[in-house]
Amino acid sequence: MKILFFGAKSYDEKYFKADLEKERYKELEVNFIEPDLTPNTAMLAHGYDAVCAFVNMDLGKKTIEILNRCGVRLILMRCAGYNNVDLEEAKKYGIQVAHVPSYSPESVAEHAMALVLTANRHTHKAYIKVRENNYSLVGLMGVSLYGRTAGIVGTGRIGAAMARICHGFGMNVIAYDMYPNKSLDFVKYVDLDTLLAQSDLISLHCPLTEESYHMINIETINKMKDGVILVNTSRGGLIKTNDLVQGIRENKFFAVGLDVYEEENGQVYEDKSDEILQHSTVARLLSFPNVMVTSHQGFFTEEAMQAISETTLENALAFKNGERGGNELTD
Ligand code: NAI
Repeated sequence: MKILFFGAKSYDEKYFKADLEKERYKELEVNFIEPDLTPNTAMLAHGYDAVCAFVNMDLGKKTIEILNRCGVRLILMRCAGYNNVDLEEAKKYGIQVAHVPSYSPESVAEHAMALVLTANRHTHKAYIKVRENNYSLVGLMGVSLYGRTAGIVGTGRIGAAMARICHGFGMNVIAYDMYPNKSLDFVKYVDLDTLLAQSDLISLHCPLTEESYHMINIETINKMKDGVILVNTSRGGLIKTNDLVQGIRENKFFAVGLDVYEEENGQVYEDKSDEILQHSTVARLLSFPNVMVTSHQGFFTEEAMQAISETTLENALAFKNGERGGNELTD
């Protein structure tokens, strides 16, 4: 079975190649290429049975139509989220799509808390200041999280891990989810408006869907407490960026931590330090002293990379053997 691996980075190759050495995967032939999967690169998959793609790639109608013409029968998403894949189009051509539903949810939740702590206590600035022989504390004031209220939006795998971390910090934890997670006996479920009104920290962990698109907008921002900390490690589209900028300018937020943001595609995972950015979203967000932005790296731990590699190759093997591995998103 031939698989074309799009958007390969050195760290992808390291973990996948280690697994591909194993006897179990000897019938899988994987070629790693640097370009991302887009309508312009999809034709490279000619002659392959499967493609392997990631969260930042364009698997819309056009790409899938080209993949079908190339003879591709399987799309292996090496990530959990699949809002960038046109599943209906894949179904239309009988192309199977599989993903990695869970690969160390704690890794993402720990990054969410890292963003909270950094944005709140300004450790990123303190690091630079001290290196410059500047030991002044001006501008570094934070708030203590102990005894405050954390509001978790979406308590699936990652949201539950974040709820446990916040609980460990001595926070009161409230949550909003249509399907309460019964394992979280210390969490009080409330409606979204109550969560917005009561939380000192709001952390987003629900998937991007038609319903959740722009769930954080000026109307919902106005319902939040003044001085709230907002963190998004889920998907950029959950927040309407222009409204967030307005809220930041109106001093609504004590701090904002973003691992994901609108318009991140085409930018994340690339070194653009020598280039002129073609859009202003990140530039505007970075201009605020209380905003911390990282480049969609919540997943990026050794544990997660190992799990992503193994599950992706198991998904390929199941397809090759005509079995259902349980991670299929299409029939
Ligand atoms: P999950 O499927 O285990 O949990 C999602 C939860 O959100 C479910 O309990 C669901 O009922 C709830 N939900 C759905 N729509 C909602 C809405 N409109 N309002 C409130 N709750 C809603 O997913 P998991 O594994 O926890 O991942 C969550 C998201 O995290 C993914 O969809 C993905 O977008 C993002 N993610 C980000 C990563 C990163 O590197 N920053 C890595 C992996 C995932």
